[in-house]
Amino acid sequence: MAPSCLAPAAQAFDAIAADFDSRFTAWRSVEAQRRAIRADLLETYPPGSRLIEIGGGTGEDASWLARQGRDVLMTDSSPAMVAAASAKGVRAKVAAAEQFRELAKELSEELKFDGAYSVFAGLNCVTDLTSFAEDIARLLRCGAPLQLVMFGICCPGEILVETLRGRPQNAFRRSRRGDVPALLGGREFTVRYHRRRDLERMLAPWFELKSRRGVGIFVPPSAAEPWISRHPRLLGALESLDRLAARPLAALGDHILYRFERTRS
Ligand SMILES: C[S@@+](CC[C@H](N)C(=O)[O-])C[C@H]1O[C@@H](n2cnc3c(N)ncnc32)[C@H](O)[C@@H]1O
Repeated sequence: MAPSCLAPAAQAFDAIAADFDSRFTAWRSVEAQRRAIRADLLETYPPGSRLIEIGGGTGEDASWLARQGRDVLMTDSSPAMVAAASAKGVRAKVAAAEQFRELAKELSEELKFDGAYSVFAGLNCVTDLTSFAEDIARLLRCGAPLQLVMFGICCPGEILVETLRGRPQNAFRRSRRGDVPALLGGREFTVRYHRRRDLERMLAPWFELKSRRGVGIFVPPSAAEPWISRHPRLLGALESLDRLAARPLAALGDHILYRFERTRS
C-alpha cells in the first residue's frame, strides 16, 4: 500500500517499526506491564485457542502466544509492523480496525475464532469503534472473550513524572475529551482516551463488559523511562503492588485491560 493511502497513525507506526523493539519493547516498565497482560491472556485463552490480534505491532505477543500453543492471526494497520511480525514467523495481515469488514468477508469460510485481543492501546488510535465491534463480532463465536488493553484516563504515575519533568501540558492530557494530537516518528496523528462507558456503548450489543483490571498502577508509564529501567529492584516491588491493586484500583492504571464477552446478538 502506498504510504500516502495510509491513515496518519499507520504512517507514524510505519516510520518507527524498524526501531520499535529496541526502543519500546526492551524497556523494563513495558516488560513488567506486558507480563501482567500475558498472564491474563494465558488464563483467558486455553491451549489450542484460535485467536485474532488487533494492532499487534511487531508480533511480540503473537509469537509468544504461538509458543504457548495458541493459534494467532495478527493484524495491524501498519504494513511495516506487519512485515516485522512476519519476519518473526507470525501469521500477520495488514488490516485497520476500521476496515475489519473486508477481513470478516475474507475469513468467512474459516472456523470462528475463540477470542480476540489488542495490547497497548492500538485501538486508542481509533475514534469510533462502532463498526469495528460489529465486524470483529462476526469473526468470533458466542461467548468468546475480547480483551482490550487501552490507555487509562487517570494515570497518577504519568501526572507525577510529567509534572516533575516540567511538562504540565502532558500531565493531564488523558483527561481531555475528543481527539488528542500525538506525535511519533515525526508524524502527527490523534489518540482518543476512551472512557469505560463510551467503550461499553460503542461495543454494544455485540459485546458485554465482564471485568477490568489496571495495568501499570504502581509500575510507571513509559514517561518514566529510561530512569526506571535502571532501578530493577524498585520496579520489582512496584510490580508486586500492581498485582494486589489490579482490580480495586483498576481505574488508575497506565493501561486498563477490559474483558468483554461476545453476546448472542
Ligand atoms: C503502541 S503499538 C502496540 C503494538 C503491540 N500491540 C505491542 O504491544 O507491542 C500500537 C499498534 O497499533 C497499531 N494501530 C494503530 N492504529 C490502528 C488501527 N486503526 N487499526 C489497527 N492497528 C492500529 C499500530 O500500527 C501499532 O502497531
